[in-house]
Amino acid sequence: MMRSMEGPASVLFSEDEIRARVRELGATISRDYAGRDPVLISVLKGGAVFLADLIQAIDLNLRTDFMSISKYEEGDDDSGVVRILKDLDQDIGGDHVIVVEDIVDTGLTLSYLLSALEARNPASLEVCALLDKSARRIAPLDIRYRGFDCPDRFVIGYGLDYEERYRNLPFILEVDLEVLARDPLALVPYLEGERGPRR
Ligand code: IMP
Repeated sequence: MMRSMEGPASVLFSEDEIRARVRELGATISRDYAGRDPVLISVLKGGAVFLADLIQAIDLNLRTDFMSISKYEEGDDDSGVVRILKDLDQDIGGDHVIVVEDIVDTGLTLSYLLSALEARNPASLEVCALLDKSARRIAPLDIRYRGFDCPDRFVIGYGLDYEERYRNLPFILEVDLEVLARDPLALVPYLEGERGPRR
């Protein structure tokens, strides 16, 4: 269902909704991995905010690690070829690995990353994504842990950016990209709590 947006953006997931869902995901992961010590891998930069909250909701002896990858260029957008800009600091051979993503859109980036990680022979490899834009999926993916299904809209906040801004919004906004293209600072009032609920 298409909802109309009043103004340049509207709140898609509030801070309270996100907090509650992250807590549920953490509890599920804690149950599923009881007796094991998983490694949670975040893909920089967007996934870092979600990872930081998620690990505090998991009561296991976990480890974290970070990777940074280049996004494929528009134009060869179904090649799915990405470059690893920063690799993991640890060997994940024999480990139970969970890749923590902010959003899965076409799935091309993540499916490339999963095959690169699979080649390192982890004991298991699963995905935890806060947002799943399932309507846009090109590469079929098994997302074991999913926060919310996300409409086919551009979203920012809680780690997600527009030209590196707005990652620090504690909620998720769906935005009018035409407005942002005209004025990338159009949503600064949301950062200052002047628009929309901060909770
Ligand atoms: P995919 O390879 O198409 O699944 O792209 C995933 C990556 O695209 C995410 O990790 C984000 O960096 C970025 N992305 C996709 N949709 C959005 C969005 O709505 N807002 C911000 N970034 C997005």
